[in-house]
Amino acid sequence: MSTPTHLVSGGQSRAGDSCVMIIFGATGDLTRRKLLPALYNLAKAKLLSRKFALIGAAFDQLSSEAFREHLVEAIRTYATDEAEEPDAEVLAWFERRMYYAQGDFRDPEFYWRLKELCTEVSGKNGIEDNYFYYLATAPNFFGEIIRQLGQAGMATEEGDHWRRVIIEKPFGHDLESAKQLNAEIKQVLRERQIYRIDHYLGKETVQNILVFRFANSIFEPIWNRRYIDHVQITAAETVGVEQRGSYYENAGALRDMVPNHLFQLLSLTTMEPPVSFAANAVRDEQTKVLRAVQIPTPEDVLSKTTRGQYGEGVIDGEPVPGYRSEPNVASDSKTETFVAMRMMIDNWRWADVPFYLRTGKRLARRTTEIAIQFRRAPLVLFRNTAIDQLRTNRLVIYLQPNEGISLQFGAKVPGPVMKLGTVKMDFDYEDYFGSTPNTGYERLLLDCMTGDATLFQRADMVEAGWCLIQPVLDVWKALPPRSFPNYAAGSWGPREADELLERDGRHWINGG
Ligand SMILES: NC(=O)c1ccc[n+]([C@@H]2O[C@H](COP(=O)([O-])OP(=O)(O)OC[C@H]3O[C@@H](n4cnc5c(N)ncnc54)[C@H](OP(=O)(O)O)[C@@H]3O)[C@@H](O)[C@H]2O)c1
Repeated sequence: MSTPTHLVSGGQSRAGDSCVMIIFGATGDLTRRKLLPALYNLAKAKLLSRKFALIGAAFDQLSSEAFREHLVEAIRTYATDEAEEPDAEVLAWFERRMYYAQGDFRDPEFYWRLKELCTEVSGKNGIEDNYFYYLATAPNFFGEIIRQLGQAGMATEEGDHWRRVIIEKPFGHDLESAKQLNAEIKQVLRERQIYRIDHYLGKETVQNILVFRFANSIFEPIWNRRYIDHVQITAAETVGVEQRGSYYENAGALRDMVPNHLFQLLSLTTMEPPVSFAANAVRDEQTKVLRAVQIPTPEDVLSKTTRGQYGEGVIDGEPVPGYRSEPNVASDSKTETFVAMRMMIDNWRWADVPFYLRTGKRLARRTTEIAIQFRRAPLVLFRNTAIDQLRTNRLVIYLQPNEGISLQFGAKVPGPVMKLGTVKMDFDYEDYFGSTPNTGYERLLLDCMTGDATLFQRADMVEAGWCLIQPVLDVWKALPPRSFPNYAAGSWGPREADELLERDGRHWINGG
């Protein structure tokens, strides 16, 4: 198992192995907005092997030439800022290594043609016999493509030569389908060949949670129930459902965000120290803590989860439509665009510490953050101070849109009387390390090319996540919502979400 050197040695990555990367779904939105720009950024940073080639596969009748034009347009639009021209040399290098394979992913014959093309491309470019398949397709193709790769003999590893598959999210739509998909792909692939992606983990701050917790001696001693009152994990978006209405109608906020993104943040925040940064050591601890989360009973679902759907409202001074008026959304849709839940972890570190998770679209502010709220200090010294002046310590890890960490603590307001104020110590990534063009996928693509699966989900993690969500899906299905839409676009979600915390004598931290 390789060690992610950049986690321990501060930013030195080795270039990816020599390989042919095959993107299934190469004309799609994800490829255009994220994957092609990320590959360009890697090439520019000299993190792609000199012996690398890309084959795009999709249904569209495109020539390799037309596909190259597609690549250039994607890079111009998404990899560089408006004022900057892409590096002509890097672009030309990249273009020379691009091929296109047209076909239907359901057609077995397509895979034989693709296999021939792979052999031809690797021979022509002097590439090692390593193949990296990226499934940037609708989820209903995941099992099918892997089965067909197996049948065409394209998934079998020989000697030191590897075959790896990145599978996009969502991985299943409930516990049963996730288990089925795991079982199906394991007929063809070994676990070490499977990279279930969660692009949240490509973000620097997410990776930095591990460094922050385990490479500093001052935080870990207080990272437990003795000092922490509760934790809030928020992933709030201001955008609506945009063009993804038909996907979102079947998914909803719970499936779309919680078992993957929010549980990744939860597990990294709460896991025990791993024995090393090797992929399985980290993922063992993440899985262990997810298994320690209390599985909600039907009563818990009713009292400790809440859902919402946005109606029309105002965002940044502009009126915006309600969810039910978005393209490809039913006018009486019951799909939730907001979810909040309270979870408890049954272990020695976290017993009795509530974890409040929430995510939603069309909320007041775009932010992804983890807020650690510490317990109140003993009050004896300040018994004559109004209680509302005695704010508690809070540490917030910001992931989006700015990446940084902020610590809130009490300080005396200068003057002759003892008056307390709250101050903040802020650390912003960009101030310290500058910014580098990053779509969030660079690190993950590189990790796959170097065989480091630390930031990818293992089968047991995915199933542990769905186990926690399944009771919520079941109860919500049995009791369709009656009050949708129940929050205005531009607000912080439905009133019930506030009540969820108020019942515990707490409130959401909405930007402060
Ligand atoms: N878009 C995002 O920002 C985003 C973010 C996170 C995760 N994801 C996940 O990434 C995956 C891809 O999403 P996307 O938005 O890129 O989808 P998309 O824009 O709909 O692209 C789908 C791709 O699949 C190809 N395709 C569809 N049916 C095919 C068939 N029978 N044979 C061959 N090719 C076929 C399409 O080719 P043609 O166009 O030639 O038909 C297209 O290249 C999904 O699992 C999604 O959940 C997407």
